[in-house]
Amino acid sequence: MEQIAETTRQTYEGWDDFFAKPVDEKLDFFKIRGRIFDVIYAQQFDREFLDELCDLADKIRLLAKTKMGAQKLSRLLPHKRAMLYFVQPSTRTFLSFQNACFLLGLNVSESRGTSTSSEVKGESPEDTIRTFASYVDLIISRHPEAGFAEKTAWVLNQTERPVPVLNGGSGPDQHPTQALLDIYTLRREFASIGGIDGKRIAMVGDLKRGRTVRSLSYLLRNYKDVTIYYVAPEVFRMKEDIKVFLKRHAIPFHETADFESVLPKVDAIYMTRIQNEYAADPSRETETYPDFHFKKEHLARIHAHCAIMHPLPRRYEIEVAVDKDPRAAYWRQERNGMWIRAALIAHVFRAEQEILSEFA
Ligand code: NCD
Repeated sequence: MEQIAETTRQTYEGWDDFFAKPVDEKLDFFKIRGRIFDVIYAQQFDREFLDELCDLADKIRLLAKTKMGAQKLSRLLPHKRAMLYFVQPSTRTFLSFQNACFLLGLNVSESRGTSTSSEVKGESPEDTIRTFASYVDLIISRHPEAGFAEKTAWVLNQTERPVPVLNGGSGPDQHPTQALLDIYTLRREFASIGGIDGKRIAMVGDLKRGRTVRSLSYLLRNYKDVTIYYVAPEVFRMKEDIKVFLKRHAIPFHETADFESVLPKVDAIYMTRIQNEYAADPSRETETYPDFHFKKEHLARIHAHCAIMHPLPRRYEIEVAVDKDPRAAYWRQERNGMWIRAALIAHVFRAEQEILSEFA
């Protein structure tokens, strides 16, 4: 395995200038010698990368089934340590990343809130980030602020230890590794019906503040003849920037508030939660929008192959009785997160060949 830290990347004037640049113009910054180093934006992934990563995730899950395979995996990266810096609530993203690290033999440190770290003593985010990098080889971060993971990568690039950074959710902006597991799930759910190309995918709920649907929309650019249906109450319609992106890439999309009419049309329904934590006063935003809930009776109206997905956590968006239907893919989806994140970490540390050679 090669060292990954030796790097010379372009340096920019200041953080504010860098952050203000259009995403497409700074994607190279997150690469080293043509390979993805930091994972900040879903726009970083192309089809070849997605196909390879999903194949790798399949191999990892196969190996992990046996004692010998699991031992091989755990011997891949015992010399690496990861920091899970999760200062916004998380269950799945945290646990799946942590268990992905365990699978590959990495040791993990965690911080789950700023109240117990020296940030309460007034340490700057920049110094806190540098401190993490002093001890670990990988930083995985979730933060309520858009741009925090990116700032972490930017700050570290100017230090002696520019360790890779993975964005585990940056405010209402992006959640690129969720989009990876969503793609991996779609690919598996559609394995016997030709994969993701040509499919019609509905995204339902709070599309305005939901970062998962934003990142997934970016990733769907990589598939042929995909049509998107955005189904949302007027106040939570998908933001303009994503629609501009889709138009630029000639990806057809429809917007509607009529969930019922979309049900029989689509191959996947991606439900989301109202993200009221981003409201000025979350306790006052209590409307549940029942017209945008997937109910048991809807099962009769969707295709036999339709995948029902949800990044979770669920509140009322999917009736619990739906869980028993084989088309309910969300519990498989959350487990897929662990395998695809293991594949991503293996990729970052260039351990793919060692995994693939087990199948040669
Ligand atoms: C999502 C998130 O945090 O954005 N959850 C997750 O990571 N699986 C979705 C949500 O919180 O609604």
